[in-house]
Amino acid sequence: MPYTYAVNPNAPADSLEAKRQAVDNGLDVPDPVRYYAEDFMRREWAQLWPRVWLLAGVTADVREPGDYFTFEIGHESVLIVRQDDGSLRAFYNVCSHRGNRVALNDFGSVSDFTCAFHGWRFGCNGSLKTITDEATFPPALVAHRPGLTEIRCDTHAGLVFVNLDGKAAPLTDWIGLPKGYLENYRIDEMNPVRHVRTVWNANWKVGVDSFYETYHLPHIHPQTQTVMEDFSQYDLYPNGFSRMIVPLCVKSHRVTDQQSVDAGLRFMMQDAGMDPDSYHGSASGVREAVQRSKRERAKRLGLSHYDNFVDGQLTDSWATGLFPNVQIGCHPEGVFIMRFLPHPDDPKKFYYDNITMFRHVDDPNYFVPAWMGLPKGTDITGATRPPIERFGEGQSADLGEVLNQDVELVHAVGAGSRSRGFRGPIWSEQECRIRHFHRELDRYLSNEK
Ligand code: FES
Ligand SMILES: [Fe+2]
Repeated sequence: MPYTYAVNPNAPADSLEAKRQAVDNGLDVPDPVRYYAEDFMRREWAQLWPRVWLLAGVTADVREPGDYFTFEIGHESVLIVRQDDGSLRAFYNVCSHRGNRVALNDFGSVSDFTCAFHGWRFGCNGSLKTITDEATFPPALVAHRPGLTEIRCDTHAGLVFVNLDGKAAPLTDWIGLPKGYLENYRIDEMNPVRHVRTVWNANWKVGVDSFYETYHLPHIHPQTQTVMEDFSQYDLYPNGFSRMIVPLCVKSHRVTDQQSVDAGLRFMMQDAGMDPDSYHGSASGVREAVQRSKRERAKRLGLSHYDNFVDGQLTDSWATGLFPNVQIGCHPEGVFIMRFLPHPDDPKKFYYDNITMFRHVDDPNYFVPAWMGLPKGTDITGATRPPIERFGEGQSADLGEVLNQDVELVHAVGAGSRSRGFRGPIWSEQECRIRHFHRELDRYLSNEK
């Protein structure tokens, strides 16, 4: 039976909210080796990762000339630096002398990069400035002034991307989303308020798969049924991109009592800056009431960009998948960026990296949605860039209740996918985003792309 759930069936066909036409991605049941085999991982390192645009970071981390951040993918470290002319450039974070990393921190601000090994100095534009004891080098070896090796870099909607092989389509063509989709959130005006990196025991694709559907919500996260619909709207875009609209501030259709406004919905109203006692309707009207209240608040606070959003965007999560390894939970107040970073050598591990981005507004009730799991006391002003919190295997990162449940789930699925008894994933139409993602991945691996 076709699954055609649309959050707003009356949305104009050309709006960002409209349900898109289905894409026929076939009915294959892929071989589960993709989830564990080293050979498959090597093919990804050769044919996927260097050829795509990778989300390296956010422009908020490199606002001023000399600001830089580093991004690790596999065995590579990439250095992204804001230039004097306002542009961004990226380089391999490798000293041209003997290969030391020239930047050893995640972030910083410098006038030039001095290699810690022998002190060679490089400008922010990658050029070699000085060689320590240059007179001791035969001129023939250094006459070409070996600087840092540049990498293609571009930005979209406050996000910084790099393309290692330099041959991907222009970023604007490669982003499969309609114009304005990410731009409306003005991520460039937000600041990272939490950045966490944890190691999970599964292939990176198990991570992507798990976050690409809400089919598992009633089973793994039953507590969400009182505040969230698990029948999401799934839409597929070109180039392996996709999104799901997850309605929030409603009860799941599986809950029999659709009338009583209980603790969950009261919490959601409060979370959205609304006084739950001011609401006298039934549960089914809460979502609209929250939307109205957020509109009024935006007007009061002079947040004009709210005019760009349809009502549904004020409550729902527009979870947006950027091929191959990113999902962004988009809300007007802030966005939650998840990256599924492959382990360099172990196909049975990945890094789950998430950045909570928030636009600070001087109002005590203005906050990112609770599902993002920001610990109490987090500085949300954006005054300082929080360091990346790194957690090793088995260490709890305090990601919030829902994500903590996913950690265990992904571990178990990772293990099960390696069993001789598992014949490959059987995807429903609620899992069409997963199929769409794997189909695109296969195009890269088979050189169709
Ligand atoms: S490796 Fe950088 S100066 Fe020697
Ligand atoms: Fe989950």
